Amino acid sequence: MLNGKVGLAPMADYSDYPFRKICSKFGAEFTFTEMISSEGIVRNNSRTYEMLPQDDEKNIGVQIFGSNIQVMVESARKVQQYGDWIDINAGCPVSKVVRRGAGSALLLDPDKLAHMIREIRKSVSKPLGVKVRIGYEKDNMQQIMESLKKVDLDYIIVHPRTREQLYSGKAYREILSYVRANTQVMLGASGDIFTRQDIEECFNKYKVDFVIVARGAIGNPWIFCDRIPSHDEIKTVLLEHLRMNISFYKIESMAVRMFTKFLVRYVNGMQGAREIRRHLNDLKSYSDVENLLTMLR
Ligand SMILES: Cc1cc2nc3c(=O)[nH]c(=O)nc-3n(C[C@H](O)[C@H](O)[C@H](O)COP(=O)(O)O)c2cc1C
Repeated sequence: MLNGKVGLAPMADYSDYPFRKICSKFGAEFTFTEMISSEGIVRNNSRTYEMLPQDDEKNIGVQIFGSNIQVMVESARKVQQYGDWIDINAGCPVSKVVRRGAGSALLLDPDKLAHMIREIRKSVSKPLGVKVRIGYEKDNMQQIMESLKKVDLDYIIVHPRTREQLYSGKAYREILSYVRANTQVMLGASGDIFTRQDIEECFNKYKVDFVIVARGAIGNPWIFCDRIPSHDEIKTVLLEHLRMNISFYKIESMAVRMFTKFLVRYVNGMQGAREIRRHLNDLKSYSDVENLLTMLR
């Protein structure tokens, strides 16, 4: 389970099959799915099932979110055959999710989170972990750890921001020392991982067992192999990523539209990137993207 030290984080709308494959190719040692609705799984929603790992993926965790314990248990039972471990999302800050008591709202009631973990643990045979923020409005890590200590987990991932902070402000990495001192289970770090130094700091200073890369991998899967690609390589890889998107999502115009958020990140900083951004809405096909890339110098 979770073999490796540096992997791709769960990211809604990003950590899909094509992006996971690209990151694995460049050295991500493990990956996560994006967060998957437990309600969608239980209701057999086909779009939800599309987010699950594909047959050729290895060393991948399936992340589920929800607030109803029975539904979470049922969905964990159903998804366990698709992945190598199951991850519980206790960090998503999005209003639509927290309003229903899921994601980081679970941090408001660490006892309920612990109960949920205990019930899922009883029902699945795959390893089980949880990904938390450090609190909802303020740092609540002590109380969260008190609850998590009482349950049987294979790992804990900490994104050291509160729900209130969303993705702004600096990740409060020092809290990792506190968590390290208070748990025997594997500890994973998330938060502001943009360079190899960020990764090394988590290992050397905070003694975590693994690190997950999130925003730092979008448009830069080379972070996993610690290499700066040439502009030609960036263009080649982004087109390969786009071809994978088209073959996975089937409808070319939709796959291209979904890809534009990656495209802007791949070309970020190159001369001509501004012209590319200006034309994003015109892109309908693979050849539209190929032609647009000629604007890069
Ligand atoms: C667009 C986006 C989507 C995300 N979706 C998820 C998600 O589905 N599940 C989850 O646990 N975290 C999610 N996260 C949080 C990341 O996994 C990570 O913890 C966070 O971005 C902090 O890492 P970073 O500062 O290195 O980006 C998301 C983050 C971003 C930017």
